[in-house]
Amino acid sequence: MNKIQAIKGTNDILPGLVEMWQNVEEVVRKTMILYGYSEIRTPIFEETGLFARSIGEDTDIVGKEMYTFNDMGNRSITLRPEGTAAVVRAFIEHSLDQKGLPQKLWYMGPMFRQERPQKGRQRQFHQFGVEAIGSPSPMLDAEVMILFDAVCDKLGLDNRSISINSLGGTASRKAYREALVSFLDTVENQLCENCRRRKSTNPLRILDCKVPGCRDAIHHSEDLPHTIDYLTEEDRNNFETLLKFLDSGNVTYYCDYSLVRGLDYYTGTVFEMQYTDLGAQNAIMGGGRYDRLLYALGGPDLPAVGFACGIERLILALQNTKFMENTVKQKQVYIIHTDGNLHSRALQYLQRIRSIGVAADMDFLGKSMKAQMKAASRYGASFAMIVEPDDETVSVKDMEKSEQKTMPFNAFLSLLEKTNRDLNL
Ligand code: HAM
Repeated sequence: MNKIQAIKGTNDILPGLVEMWQNVEEVVRKTMILYGYSEIRTPIFEETGLFARSIGEDTDIVGKEMYTFNDMGNRSITLRPEGTAAVVRAFIEHSLDQKGLPQKLWYMGPMFRQERPQKGRQRQFHQFGVEAIGSPSPMLDAEVMILFDAVCDKLGLDNRSISINSLGGTASRKAYREALVSFLDTVENQLCENCRRRKSTNPLRILDCKVPGCRDAIHHSEDLPHTIDYLTEEDRNNFETLLKFLDSGNVTYYCDYSLVRGLDYYTGTVFEMQYTDLGAQNAIMGGGRYDRLLYALGGPDLPAVGFACGIERLILALQNTKFMENTVKQKQVYIIHTDGNLHSRALQYLQRIRSIGVAADMDFLGKSMKAQMKAASRYGASFAMIVEPDDETVSVKDMEKSEQKTMPFNAFLSLLEKTNRDLNL
């Protein structure tokens, strides 16, 4: 019979790797608290129109990557391809602006895009992200980037740099769009079919085209106009102020004046972080300002800025770092009991060890002493604790030092409590 396998582009995260995920998630949660961001959890599926209206009909995501189906009520439903649209929908639906501005929200969870799977590109992947809604100040743009930088610092992700650009407000974008269309006229015969069409509907999208010949014709041309040259004075000042804030926050960045992002809702600042060691799928994080989105979705006219980071790609990048080695290993105990008369004492000890916050496990299959010792090392135990026939006595083997001592159970429990205190667990 054919074995059923996971759907192409989806991954099982197995024990061994899942601990790394938990560590990353923990760092993210703690950083969000430090920076004053509150968690928000939105559903995994939404009305299709939400994504079409916010991400844009002309984008790759909406055009060809969404998992869309009709439900029993014949409503068009889509598995969320990203988090921003849903957070904005929830913000408007629950009038979160009434709770004071800016509202600083964060989220973490699975997203779905029907892309061609390859290393670092899945059909179900995970993001953590922030959406800071209600202030136009470049201070907030700087804060979200500094926050991401802090997460990377804590994870020990070196050699990183954020590329940054500003598309400016409506007037700047209009001026740039005109200059871009004039340029595109000169390379029209080198553009792919899709981009020839997009030239009149959504020319900015062409800068994000992934078709090699088309991409080269645009990005290798010296005549490609640069966004910075078309910013109004106010937009340029805002951008320069942001760069100063980033300097004072010690964020490493470089300006890329042809950076646009693959989603239509961006207005002013846009930024991305690539990690070169990752190969083709090297964008770890992307974000920017979306000052018109709330209004476009029927909400208050509030500016906003945010980013999202792909957790699979982040973890791929971290595999080359010391992050895993450096994480504090929690003490764990494996209880060994071979005599049927000792089972109830073993169970009682198991409960007492766990009740002081120390992870513990034991054999449930009646295995031999040798097999239980093997299980203890497979479990990664710091101590194997052998239940002795004498009342309340146990033999404790320090697995690392390979030393064994016999002591009353209570003495061992106090030792575990002390180690826990020393490790600050
Ligand atoms: P995005 O650039 O589409 O932006 O996605 C952000 C990150 O998600 C990417 O940099 C990448 O690491 C990860 N990612 C995207 N697609 C895949 C995939 N198929 N497989 C693995 N990882 C992937 C957004 O989603 C915006 N909502 C970000 C944002 C928030 N802008 C403002 N606020």
